[in-house]
Amino acid sequence: MTKLILRDVEIYKGFLDRAAQTEVLDAVRSVVAAAPLFQPDTPYGKPMSVRMTSAGRYGWFSDRSGYRYAERHPSGTEWPPVPQPVLDIWDTLTRLQRQPDCCLVNFYGEGARMGLHQDRDEADYSWPVVSVSLGDPGLFRVGNQTRGGKTESVWLESGDVVVLAGAARLTYHGVDRIKFGAGSLLPKGGRINLTLRVVD
Ligand code: SIN
Ligand code: MN
Repeated sequence: MTKLILRDVEIYKGFLDRAAQTEVLDAVRSVVAAAPLFQPDTPYGKPMSVRMTSAGRYGWFSDRSGYRYAERHPSGTEWPPVPQPVLDIWDTLTRLQRQPDCCLVNFYGEGARMGLHQDRDEADYSWPVVSVSLGDPGLFRVGNQTRGGKTESVWLESGDVVVLAGAARLTYHGVDRIKFGAGSLLPKGGRINLTLRVVD
């Protein structure tokens, strides 16, 4: 494992070895079986290119009325619990007593991307955000604390973990593109990102 710091964003390259990636992937498959992926609308009315679901007390949700956390999946069922192997990543990296309320699962199929944004739908930005990459590589762009300005990018590969904390908690970030089919973890290609957050 190597730790990179890009504008206060901590990037743990190779945090999960292949066996750990498979364990987390199996756990994600159970989450998706209980709470199927859906394609949310942005507040601007366009569907997002990623498909998503969540685990935990809260799930992240978006539609024409805006971004927010919801206590239930759009089907009306509660979100499944955050899987233990995912909680273990949080515990190891944050050493916090409190565990995350939400594990957002983003699935990037061919051509999916995520525009530059801040994670700011949570009540208290003193809690970190931990983000896990699985599957195909994704080009992760890191901006600034406010909109605009120069950005820098790094490829996130399967098993890499990013922490947005402290000065980087509200840093703009996004995923420009993925190398669809270039990874070997997901047999049909695609990229999974798990984002762990304390919500309230
Ligand atoms: C996100 O910021 O919601 C996703 C980041 C990623 O896919 O790496
Ligand atoms: Mn984000």
